[in-house]
Amino acid sequence: MRRKIVAGNWKMNKTVDEALDLVEDLADLLTDDILGSTDVIIAPPSLFISEIIEELLDVDYIAVAGQNCHHENNGAFTGEISAPMLASLEADACIVGHSERRQYFGETDALIAKKIDRLLEQDLVPIYCCGELLEERKSGEHFTKVGNQLKEALSHLSANDMAEVIIAYEPVWAIGTGETATPEQAQEMHAFIRSQIAMMFDADVADEVSILYGGSCNPKNAAALFANPDVDGGLIGGASLDADDFVDIVKALN
Ligand code: PGA
Repeated sequence: MRRKIVAGNWKMNKTVDEALDLVEDLADLLTDDILGSTDVIIAPPSLFISEIIEELLDVDYIAVAGQNCHHENNGAFTGEISAPMLASLEADACIVGHSERRQYFGETDALIAKKIDRLLEQDLVPIYCCGELLEERKSGEHFTKVGNQLKEALSHLSANDMAEVIIAYEPVWAIGTGETATPEQAQEMHAFIRSQIAMMFDADVADEVSILYGGSCNPKNAAALFANPDVDGGLIGGASLDADDFVDIVKALN
């Protein structure tokens, strides 16, 4: 079933005490009436995942994700973390293919495809990010770009595996810039992504997959973005670092 999801990507922010404070605030503020049928996921720095999962032992309404993992299960890869490591902490999911990983660490969709495989082997939910650069949007290549990303990262999956994946559309020009896609731009691209999934798999899988919008989503613009039929929630960066803002975004989805 297609899920409504708000996920927070904390990126490289917060010390351990600050992270635990934020988790505590979220656990208190996210009451049943605010949550409704929305799934909430947080992606803290991997260093704190263990402590955060412990803090959330009695809280079943906040899932925990990594922000990235390596495409191998283990080995001589200094500084990296693997899907089995995340699984051993009982994490639930992991972001892969974030534009910052692509931009600063040279990640390609071929590599991201392998990360998705490692995560699925561990029953971790991959949150796959895609999206075009500003110059690609300006030159009208945004659909081609995103279509190619989807094909390279996802087309090797079985339909069953694809049904486990969450997609986040994150136009790179909107990430951390304060500039947001208009609700029309978001809906247009989300509908395109769903149509690509239908072509690669089938209509049922396309209908089931949750497609989140990311890119300067905040309490003010969230409701208009989420009102679109193909926008199933958001992947939130900056606004996920403040408990009240994040909770207001969850409210906007209900
Ligand atoms: P932003 O980040 O909300 O700060 O634009 C979104 C993301 O990178 O996931």
